[in-house]
Amino acid sequence: MSAPDPTSARKLAHVDVCLERPVAYRTRTTGFEAVDLPYRALPETDLASVSTRTTFLGRPVAAPILIGAMTGGSRLGATVNRNLAIAAQRTGVGMMLGSQRVMLERPDAVSDFAVRRYAPDVPIVGNLGVAQLNLGYGPAEILRAIEEVEADGLALHANPLQEAMQAEGDGDFRGLIATLRTLPQRVGRPLLLKEVGHGLDAGTVAALGDAGYAAFDVAGAGGTSWARVEALVRGDDAADEALLELGIPTAEALRAAREVAGATPLIASGGVRSGSDVAKAIASGASWCAAAMPLLRPATESPEAVEAVLHRWIGDLKIAMHACGAPDLDALASLRPVPRAPERR
Ligand SMILES: Cc1cc2nc3c(=O)[nH]c(=O)nc-3n(C[C@H](O)[C@H](O)[C@H](O)COP(=O)(O)O)c2cc1C
Repeated sequence: MSAPDPTSARKLAHVDVCLERPVAYRTRTTGFEAVDLPYRALPETDLASVSTRTTFLGRPVAAPILIGAMTGGSRLGATVNRNLAIAAQRTGVGMMLGSQRVMLERPDAVSDFAVRRYAPDVPIVGNLGVAQLNLGYGPAEILRAIEEVEADGLALHANPLQEAMQAEGDGDFRGLIATLRTLPQRVGRPLLLKEVGHGLDAGTVAALGDAGYAAFDVAGAGGTSWARVEALVRGDDAADEALLELGIPTAEALRAAREVAGATPLIASGGVRSGSDVAKAIASGASWCAAAMPLLRPATESPEAVEAVLHRWIGDLKIAMHACGAPDLDALASLRPVPRAPERR
């Protein structure tokens, strides 16, 4: 067997480290634990009719939950994507693919990402890194990435800290705001901007708020630290802990983005780990949530293992909505989380 190309080898190392090593933030949390949903003792709702239905990129979905961008470009990546896609279709939720750079560089990798046949009805989102836009990628590559997998749009990931921690990462992020402002119009398909777990800051969101993005995914701190993943991949025992913990907590990133995002809807991700986290995020201004890490191990096992997590979260989201008297997502979005009372010691 020939040696894998560097991009595929790195992707495999990422999955390996995420499965086997502690990649979560150690000291930072999302901030969702600091708020409560506004509980109602007489909610005037019927749990059996609470609806989590909505749409994403024009397709109906059963819940405002997306499978986060993960992987592809290896045999394991193909299995993971297949299992995620089957679960997405059966559960009725959207799926974000991992970076398609490998498939643009190596066309035989397209099959790892081509999951539309497993998920004909749900939203599928492609993925590329913004750093690639300074290395020759543009609207043509973005369109190829969308069309070759029959996606409904594509998320560009901004990841300066992750790239900086990578042995041969891309460090040149100059001029990207100007490029990103023009892309939605030049591509003519739904584009999203996401981080990878260190958070989109309000300045970035404000700079692109009127550029025509279909959504901003804040992908904040509190879940997987990609600086930590890269340090572990490199075997760097002396990494600067403060850099591995650097990022904007998801709840704070969401609050700040909501103030400046204008009409662009928001996805909350980064450490979203339960149905009640989803409820708190929607009540804090997100239109959808996404989660990656909690679905990785299940995705190496079976579609059913992924479905079990998603069903649990959707069930708990319904209970959370019922417990604060929200029969649907519009009602949930009109609520506000309340500061959590201090814990008993
Ligand atoms: C194994 C794995 C691979 C990932 N690969 C990508 C990727 O290719 N592109 C991307 O935008 N984000 C990627 N991510 C980042 C996630 O989409 C997400 O933003 C981040 O992990 C924070 O969410 P979490 O706390 O739910 O894991 C990856 C995450 C995991 C766990």
